[in-house]
Amino acid sequence: MITVAVCGCGARGLFAYMEYAKRFPDRMKVVAGADIIPERLQLLRELYGVPEEMCFDSDEALLAQPKLADAMLISTMDRQHAGEAMKALEKGYHLILEKPISPVLAECLALQEKIHETDRFVVVGHVLRYTNFYAKAEELIRTGAIGKLMTIAMTENVGWWHFSHSFVRGNWRRDDETSPMLLQKCCHDMDIMRWLAGVPCKKVQCFGTLSYFKEVNAPEGSAARCMDCPLQDSCRFSAKTLYISSPHLGVRHDHGGWARVFVPDPTEENILEALKTSPYGRCVFRSDNNVADHETVDLEFENGILGTFTVSAFTERCDRTLKITGTDGEIYGVLGEDRLHLVRFGAGEEVIDLKKVTDGPEGHGGGDMGLADGFWRLMTGQAEEKTSVDVSIESHVMALAAEASREAGGTTVVLEDFVKQADKGNR
Ligand SMILES: NC(=O)c1ccc[n+]([C@@H]2O[C@H](COP(=O)([O-])OP(=O)(O)OC[C@H]3O[C@@H](n4cnc5c(N)ncnc54)[C@H](O)[C@@H]3O)[C@@H](O)[C@H]2O)c1
Repeated sequence: MITVAVCGCGARGLFAYMEYAKRFPDRMKVVAGADIIPERLQLLRELYGVPEEMCFDSDEALLAQPKLADAMLISTMDRQHAGEAMKALEKGYHLILEKPISPVLAECLALQEKIHETDRFVVVGHVLRYTNFYAKAEELIRTGAIGKLMTIAMTENVGWWHFSHSFVRGNWRRDDETSPMLLQKCCHDMDIMRWLAGVPCKKVQCFGTLSYFKEVNAPEGSAARCMDCPLQDSCRFSAKTLYISSPHLGVRHDHGGWARVFVPDPTEENILEALKTSPYGRCVFRSDNNVADHETVDLEFENGILGTFTVSAFTERCDRTLKITGTDGEIYGVLGEDRLHLVRFGAGEEVIDLKKVTDGPEGHGGGDMGLADGFWRLMTGQAEEKTSVDVSIESHVMALAAEASREAGGTTVVLEDFVKQADKGNR
């Protein structure tokens, strides 16, 4: 059994990977934790039975202790991860490290050095690698099912309602406070593309802007806050509708978890009260957001492999599509549809039922649980590293280079030069 200390007991810290500890108490146990919000520590005690004296009121207080567990889950906000990870490695912890590692390239590179120096297990929260969908696609490429790999096209459909929650009103609306969209949301996709390509990326080019969620597009007569707005019952983005009755985020549809980010006990009454003052009650056209709402990235990998990636807020569904071509065939599918299509040129199409593919002895594979299971297997010597930290860092380099390209109006960025510059400038 391995023991874990949780640094940052929010949505990810309490409800994602550590579900594994609940399901497999003989494999993983949460023994300590830290958060600056007392209610979150209370939840840590209730959910995982962590004793009072092992609950700390900040990351610093937790990291000032001697080593309290085999591993640390770092699940605070984006800009806190790298500093905490450095200290935790020095203390001797192995890490589950939430993505993004850091929005600052030099910090990613310094941490990479430290990980190699300390020789600890570090698994970055690239949960998509643990889904049957991408794992099967990777296996098909690796085993030559479509010949020589040529192109990878990926789309991330964020969903207008999800985008408004996280990237207009919520935590990730400003890149100067957290991370740019490509890193925060799409480092998963960059990571998957790099993993599927199997070789390093050489160049990237990116276009994209924040074009819709701006004051100029606010409907006539609308107010700065939804609860004061005459359009609160007709506007698609009305916070009242979204968090109470919408099928996407509404508490009436059992989606109270979305509102928990601004109200600890998300009853209808509490949500309506909180929306009067919370940032989540702001008009989507009058927030202080600055992250792009649609972007495209072109990528050139070694061996002539080409990638294209599109992320858009303007979709109904929240899903991801994949289309891979090779000299002898193609693979395509939609994440979440439980099937992958494999076409072998001249030999027809096979539909692979992903429900029949298991990626763990218990068949509980899937993002968060799969990653926690992978970490436990790694720590107990039963599995090889699946999320190589070097590849994770590479995917951050790709995302940050793409962001630099976007900011410069779509110039081509050579990754080798980009890394050299970060090295020169900051370390
Ligand atoms: N891997 C994934 O698929 C995935 C999905 C969503 C979010 N994330 C990442 O996980 C991280 C956490 O996201 P979240 O949705 O859980 O956010 P959250 O706000 O729910 O949780 C962050 C927690 O950190 C706590 N915190 C802040 N400062 C602290 C400090 N100094 N010491 C101790 N605790 C502190 C906050 O009080 C909060 O409880 C983010 O970096 C996010 O990008 C990853």
